[in-house]
Amino acid sequence: MKKLFAKKNTAIIDKDRLPKHIAIIMDGNGRWAKKRGLARSAGHYAGSERFRSAAKYLQKLGVEHFTVYAFSTENWKRPEDEVSGIFSLLEKYLYEAIDDLKDDNIVLSFWGDLSPLSPKLVELIEQTDRLSAKNDGMHVNICLNYGGRAEIVRAVRSVAEDCASGAIDVSDIDDKLIDSRLYSKNTPPPDLLIRPGGETRISNFLLWQLAYSEMYFTDTLWPDLTDDKLEKIIIDFQQRNRRYGGL
Ligand code: FPP
Repeated sequence: MKKLFAKKNTAIIDKDRLPKHIAIIMDGNGRWAKKRGLARSAGHYAGSERFRSAAKYLQKLGVEHFTVYAFSTENWKRPEDEVSGIFSLLEKYLYEAIDDLKDDNIVLSFWGDLSPLSPKLVELIEQTDRLSAKNDGMHVNICLNYGGRAEIVRAVRSVAEDCASGAIDVSDIDDKLIDSRLYSKNTPPPDLLIRPGGETRISNFLLWQLAYSEMYFTDTLWPDLTDDKLEKIIIDFQQRNRRYGGL
């Protein structure tokens, strides 16, 4: 049994039983900033830095897929300057990712309806798609203008169109077919969903994919969810008994 990052007298991660896919709702940036007397934008900046570090840590550990909720279909309701601040952070991340993608060997994907985004952001995303195609390391999926219900509606429409055109028969519709019409196609479902920030709900995130995921909720705010804390969460996950509806 290979083990990683042994620490004195503490449980350690079993590298043979790593979650293949970890998803995170990056919540608590605003409160993190408020506690420090800073603007909410400073919280999102700290959140984006934590995302970069977490991705590096999880990649080093050997996690294969890492999916984060960066901007939901409901987040447009926030003040305009906060929305544009989050998009600026994404733009900054993309510029840096484009430079680093070759060395980092991550496969970067964006899940969500990208049509209302600025042409600049869409162009950067297309560029990272092209560069990512050459990589075979950890898959990092950033959910952007994403909603779980909207994703399912999109999949149902695509299946309905194929039924109407005669390309498929109603009897062909099964789990696998629906899976193949989601943004997450070709990705195993998350083994573990982590939500920092104290809320215990999934907020329209990966509604289909989370069917059998283990949930971990913590009061720690996202920018404070250090690699050490992630390590403890993974150890907690490894102690759980997953039954998938069986005994
Ligand atoms: C939720 O916290 C966080 C968001 C809606 C935005 C998350 C975005 C980022 C971390 C930046 C994305 C950038 C990259 C590079 C992935 P909240 O603002 O609702 O926190 P609160 O509940 O404390 O107010």
